[in-house]
Formats: sequence, structure tokens, C-alpha cells
Amino acid sequence: MEDILKVAMPKGRIYKQAAKLFHKAGLPIPEDLEEGRRLIIPVPEAKMEFILAKPVDVPTYVEYGVADIGVVGKDVLMEENRNVYELLDLGIARCRMSVIGLPDWKPVINPRVATKYPNVASQYFREKGQQVEVIKLNGSIELAPLIGLADRIVDMVETGQTLKENGLVEQEEIFQITSRLIANRVSYRLKNDSIQRLCDMLQAVLPVAGKI
Ligand code: PRP
Repeated sequence: MEDILKVAMPKGRIYKQAAKLFHKAGLPIPEDLEEGRRLIIPVPEAKMEFILAKPVDVPTYVEYGVADIGVVGKDVLMEENRNVYELLDLGIARCRMSVIGLPDWKPVINPRVATKYPNVASQYFREKGQQVEVIKLNGSIELAPLIGLADRIVDMVETGQTLKENGLVEQEEIFQITSRLIANRVSYRLKNDSIQRLCDMLQAVLPVAGKI
């Protein structure tokens, strides 16, 4: 059992792209894992076990060592700030974190900023020396400036479609986002051979090789 590698995979938009990459690397992870309701999927032929987690929880599973490694977006990594190793930039699920507002937005004193990423937003405006009130929301962030809850929002932009359909504009880009392979610090030492092997296999099929 010890040499089984436990991999936390994010459910949702990243999963399919990650599964495709793992497949390309010769790892027989089911591509339709999400169609069922199972949360733990053993793949004994690859000596792996996949744990399907909410994306925001992946670094938590990895930090606590219940998963040896995980796939997670840079957005979640920046927000959660967990004690894990970042091993590889997988180059998938590419998007960006941005400040967004209405086209006629004008600076006000102590503006309200709504976001799913309160730590990222607070740090960004602190570093710019701007005082803001950050309001944490859990989804549909684009609503906030439309209904007067916030002056601006900090959110992920992928295709820009959500902004377009809601008459919002991207004002400042904060950072680029891609998915990363992360590892538990103890697992990285104890299971170094299998983690390294996995990294090598993935790296060989990455569009832009991404050792960090
Ligand atoms: C994310 C993000 C934006 C949207 C951006 O929301 O918060 O709303 O995707 O994608 P686009 O630029 O391709 O339109 P998500 O779908 O995760 O749902 P949420 O609103 O519940 O956060």
C-alpha cells in the first residue's frame, strides 16, 4: 500500500484537461471520472489512487498528507497559501486573475471589492497602497457591481464571455493562472521515486515544459 501514490484531482473545469494530460503521459486515469459519484478511484495498474476534491480543497488534502500530490490552479494556490511544494506548471486551464468593473467606473474613497479570493485581492490592493473593503462571495461575482454591492470585483477571466454578457470590462490583470502539480513535503521525500517518475512522464508531454 505504501507505494501507492495518492493524487488529489480537482472536480470541474480542470479535471478533463488534467485527465487528458495524464492520458497523454501514459497514465490510465479515466477521462469520464466525473460521470459517476465515486470520490476515490484506484488505478492499481499505475499504482495510483485518485481522490476527487473540490478545487479549493486540493492544497488542504496535500498539506495534510492525505494526498501525496495534487493538481490545482495557481489562483487557489495564491489564495490558500498552503505549505506544499509546487513541482510543475502543467500549462492547462489557462486564464487570468483580474480587477473588473463597469466601463464608467470612477475611483472612489475606500471602494468595495467583491471576490472569491479575499487574500489575493487584499494583498494586491495593499501592495498598490490602495485602501479597499473586500467582500467575500462564493460565486456569480459579476453580479456585485451590477446590483451595487461592490464598486469593482477581483475574479478569474478565461474567455471573457461572462464579462461581455454582463457589460463589464477587465481593468487590471493581476497574474496569469495555469494548473500546477503540487506535493506534500513529507511524501516528496518518502515517495520521491514515484513522484519524480510522474513528473518526468508529465513533463515529457507538456506543451511548454514547466519545471518550477
Ligand atoms: C468563473 C469566474 C468567471 C468565469 C470566467 O466562474 O468566476 O465568472 O468563470 O470565465 P469566462 O471568462 O470564460 O466567461 P465559474 O464558472 O467558476 O462560476 P462561479 O460564478 O460560480 O464562480
